[in-house]
Amino acid sequence: MENPFPAVVFEKMQPADLQQVMEIENEAFTSPWHASYFRMGLRNPKPNEHFYVARLDECIVGYVVFRIVCDEGHLFNLAVAAAYRRRGLAKYLLATTLEIIAANGGTQVFLEVDVANVAAHSLYRQFGFRICRLRKNYYGPGQDAYVLARGIAGDG
Ligand SMILES: CC(C)(COP(=O)(O)OP(=O)(O)OC[C@H]1O[C@@H](n2cnc3c(N)ncnc32)[C@H](O)[C@@H]1OP(=O)(O)O)[C@@H](O)C(=O)NCCC(=O)NCCS
Repeated sequence: MENPFPAVVFEKMQPADLQQVMEIENEAFTSPWHASYFRMGLRNPKPNEHFYVARLDECIVGYVVFRIVCDEGHLFNLAVAAAYRRRGLAKYLLATTLEIIAANGGTQVFLEVDVANVAAHSLYRQFGFRICRLRKNYYGPGQDAYVLARGIAGDG
């Protein structure tokens, strides 16, 4: 996909990015990941686990975390800084992620999304993701998630 911001660079997350990533994480989610999850992933990188950021000059404007196991990609986290939303950055992050999963042999992509997250549902629907099943209380009591999936070619 064409980069909506030519000045935005998609690159591997570095430990020095953690503070800015956590600022976005904390504003983006009611139950944010703890910094130690990112720290451990960056300190002891697993070959199948990927942490990327979208960087605009010195500023982190979004990030994505995903895993590729055999032929399955699993998207764990994707967020865009509030000040940079509605400009196509999530589409760019997601499209680039799907390209990397495809390049590594992935044929199916899965993710969980809060049933109440209207913006994320709209994003994933645009990319051809379909609801597979409901996971009750996935994000905590009363906070259910849908498992979404799509074929890497966007064929459901
Ligand atoms: C969801 C999120 C990643 C979207 O980021 P973004 O950069 O604003 O998204 P984009 O500008 O690329 O928009 C992509 C599509 O998402 C949908 N979307 C984004 N924000 C939306 C909103 N506030 N309401 C409804 N749909 C929205 C639209 O379908 C949009 O496509 P369109 O512009 O053609 O209508 C961002 O709102 C965010 O970080 N939210 C908090 C974290 C989160 O929910 N992450 C996903 C968890 S799985």
